[in-house]
Amino acid sequence: MDHTCVIGLAWGDEGKGKVIDLLCPHYQQVVRYNGGANAGHTVCVGEQRFGLHLMPTGILHSGATAVIGPGVALDPVVLVDEINGLRARGIHVGDNLKISDRAHVVTAYHKIEDRLSEALAAEGGRIGTTARGIGPCYADKMRRHNAIRVCDLMDSEHLSETLETVVPQRRKLFAACYGDDGGLDLDQVRDELLTAANHLRPYVCDTGVHLRERIAAGDIVLFEGANGVMLDVDHGTYPFVTSSSTGPHGIGGGAGVPGAMVRQVIGVAKAYATRVGGGPFVSELTDATGDRIREKGREYGTTTGRPRRCGWLDGVALRYAAELVGATELGLLHLDTLSGFKRVGICTAYQVDGKTWNTVPADARLLERAAPVFEYHKGWSDDVRGLQSFEALPPEAKTYLARIESLIGCPVTVIGTGPSRDECICRGRRAGPATTAKLTGETDV
Ligand code: GDP
Ligand code: IMO
Ligand code: MG
Repeated sequence: MDHTCVIGLAWGDEGKGKVIDLLCPHYQQVVRYNGGANAGHTVCVGEQRFGLHLMPTGILHSGATAVIGPGVALDPVVLVDEINGLRARGIHVGDNLKISDRAHVVTAYHKIEDRLSEALAAEGGRIGTTARGIGPCYADKMRRHNAIRVCDLMDSEHLSETLETVVPQRRKLFAACYGDDGGLDLDQVRDELLTAANHLRPYVCDTGVHLRERIAAGDIVLFEGANGVMLDVDHGTYPFVTSSSTGPHGIGGGAGVPGAMVRQVIGVAKAYATRVGGGPFVSELTDATGDRIREKGREYGTTTGRPRRCGWLDGVALRYAAELVGATELGLLHLDTLSGFKRVGICTAYQVDGKTWNTVPADARLLERAAPVFEYHKGWSDDVRGLQSFEALPPEAKTYLARIESLIGCPVTVIGTGPSRDECICRGRRAGPATTAKLTGETDV
C-alpha cells in the first residue's frame, strides 16, 4: 500500500469527496494540506449527505485520523460549526482530529476584504471567489506582518494585542480602498476567535511531528487535495485561480512531510467539465445542452450554492493537469449524468488567433478568446446509474472511457455512476489488483 493523494484535475468539484471516502478505510491518516472553507467535499451514504469544508473526509471513518495541515487556511468559526454539525449526526470527533498549530487563521476581516475587493473589481475581472477569505488570508501569510496562525489563536493575550493593531488598520484601509470599512468591530472579531479557539484547543498540535511519527510507525497516508489543478495558483488559469498549491506539489509544505513519499496520484475529473466563478472555460456550453448537464448532474456548488458552468470534457486541460501532477490513475465521475445524450463531446484542442494549442496557454486573455475543437462520440441511451460492473456498461460508454484513457495516458480505475458511495465501478489498476481491494473496503457510516 502506498501513500496516496487524490487531486481534482479540473476547476474543483470533480467528486474528490466521493473518491476519498471510498479509499479511506485503507488509510490511517487523511490529510488536508491546502485551501480552506472554499472547498466543499460531498460524501453520500444512503440517504445521508455530508458536505465537508475544512474537515478531512477521514473523519467519517473510525480507523482514520483526520489531519488539518499547516498549508490550510483555517477558519476557526467554520470548523467549530462543522465539528458541531458532525457530532449532531453521530460522527465522533475527538482524538481522531489533529489541527496544525502552524496553519494560518481566516478571520472576519479576511472575509470582508474578499467580498469588498470582488465588488470593486471590474465586470469580467472578478474571480468569483467563494467569499471565504481565502485570498486575503494567504496574502497576510506571505506579507507576514500581523498574520495570525493557530498557535497565535491559542495565546489569547497575544491574539488580543495583534487584533488591537490590525483591526483599526484594516478598517482604515478598507474605507480608503473600497469606500466602506466593512463594519469591522474589534470586540466581535476578538470574541468569535477566542470562543472558537477554546473549542479547537484540544485538537491543536504539531501535525508534522504527528504525521512523521505515524509514518515511521507504519501508517499509510491519504492526502486530500482541495480545489483543483486548474485552480492552482502557479499552474491554473491565473488570475482566475485560488491562492494555494492544489496539486501534490503542495503536500511537502502544506502537510509537513516529504512530498516524494507520495507514490500514487489519483486524478479525479467528471465525465464532462464544470467551473464555478469567473475565468476562461473553453469547452463551456452556454446552450440547452449545458443547461441539461447542469440539471441532470445537479451542478450547484456545495459551498456557495451557485450554479456551476457546464461544458464537454476538456481533454486539453485534463491532460495538462494529469501530466502536471503525475497522475497514476484517473477517477471519472458522473458517467450517469451523460446517459441519454445523443452524442458526447471532448475538446481535443484550442484554436486562438489562427493557432492550434494542445496545451493550456499561460495567458487567461488568450484562453478567453480560444475556440474549442470538439470531437463527438455516440452517446448511450441506457441509464448507467448505479452500475457497479464495467462489463455492464453500454459499448458507447466503454468507447468514450477508452478514448479518455488514450488521450490522457492514464487508466480510469474509478467510474462514478451516481452520488452514493456504492454507485461506483472500481476497476483494478493495470499494475495489479491493489486498488480494487482498496476501493471495496468496509466503511463506518
Ligand atoms: P468535490 O469538491 O470534488 O468533492 O466535489 P463536490 O462534492 O463539490 O461535487 C461533486 C458532486 O457530484 C456532489 O454533489 C456529489 O454528491 C456528486 N457526485 C459525485 N460523484 C457522482 C457520480 O458519479 N454521479 C452523480 N450523479 N453525482 C456524483
Ligand atoms: P472543492 O475542493 C470549486 C474557485 C472559486 C473561484 C476561485 C477562487 O470543493 O473542489 P477562492 O474562494 O478560493 O478565492 O475562489 O476558485 N474555487 C472552487 N471551485 N470547488 C472548489 O473547491 C473551489 N475552491 C475554489 O469558485 O472561481
Ligand atoms: Mg466541491
